[in-house]
Amino acid sequence: MRNLTLDNITAAAVDSFAGLPDARQRELVQTLVRHLHAYAREVKLSHPEWRAAMAFLHRVGDISNAERSEFSLLSDVTGLSSLVDLLGSHPQATPGSVLGPFHTVGSPWKDNPAHLIGDNAGERVLLRGRVTGTDGQPLKDAVLDFWQNAANGLYWQLDAAQPRDNLRCQMRVDLQGGYEIATIRPVPYQIPTDGPAWVDLVEPAGRGSWRPAHFHVIVSAPGHRTLVTELFDAEDPYLERDAVFGVREALIGRYAEEHDPAAAQRLGLPGPGVPVMRMDFRLAPA
Ligand SMILES: [Fe+2]
Repeated sequence: MRNLTLDNITAAAVDSFAGLPDARQRELVQTLVRHLHAYAREVKLSHPEWRAAMAFLHRVGDISNAERSEFSLLSDVTGLSSLVDLLGSHPQATPGSVLGPFHTVGSPWKDNPAHLIGDNAGERVLLRGRVTGTDGQPLKDAVLDFWQNAANGLYWQLDAAQPRDNLRCQMRVDLQGGYEIATIRPVPYQIPTDGPAWVDLVEPAGRGSWRPAHFHVIVSAPGHRTLVTELFDAEDPYLERDAVFGVREALIGRYAEEHDPAAAQRLGLPGPGVPVMRMDFRLAPA
């Protein structure tokens, strides 16, 4: 085409990707180009604005490395990550939430009940629940992959003072789908504030940098959709303004004192009461 105009350039750009052999990739790319063009038309994107956007994306790339993805953070703070989680959630299953940057494949396996406290400071708590299908039947072959931050707000990867794989594990549920984790109460923490996602976008918008305290968990079981989600603390001050839009009502749990002298002894608490958060997971069929 030798005469590209405002009227035909979008169709030309979309059509130029018609040769992509994979149908889904073709749909993703052509639809993206269509929406990018519609965006530029709607806001009447100027040349200086386009250059500023390119420079911003350059900075996002410059600060990213194998341990740090500013692109993921950009996706998180614009709500895109959470939107994808919600699109992937089954209406009858436990909703998904942000994976975040601190999951590592191959966490150590622990027996169920799992004991993660070790030398960690912090409030000692129990997390208990069951894994079921959307029909409520227990999934006895389910596996939990669990991780959280320490009492200083840091995950072990960012804190040389913590032992490797501190406060994380993989574990199997019991025959009733039950699990129990003795751990410490996680604390709120801030998203990175030294990169362009915060400096150029989130901070100037007057938004906060805090995430409410949460446990991370990936729940998987044969024949079911894997669930990536988070569990929040009903008493957390940042529930209403999570910097990355991860909170869902169904994922908010409350610590309640339960009479359990044996568990108190396991946790090293005077007993007989133990603070317990109960949270069940419902997995959708694959
Ligand atoms: Fe987290």
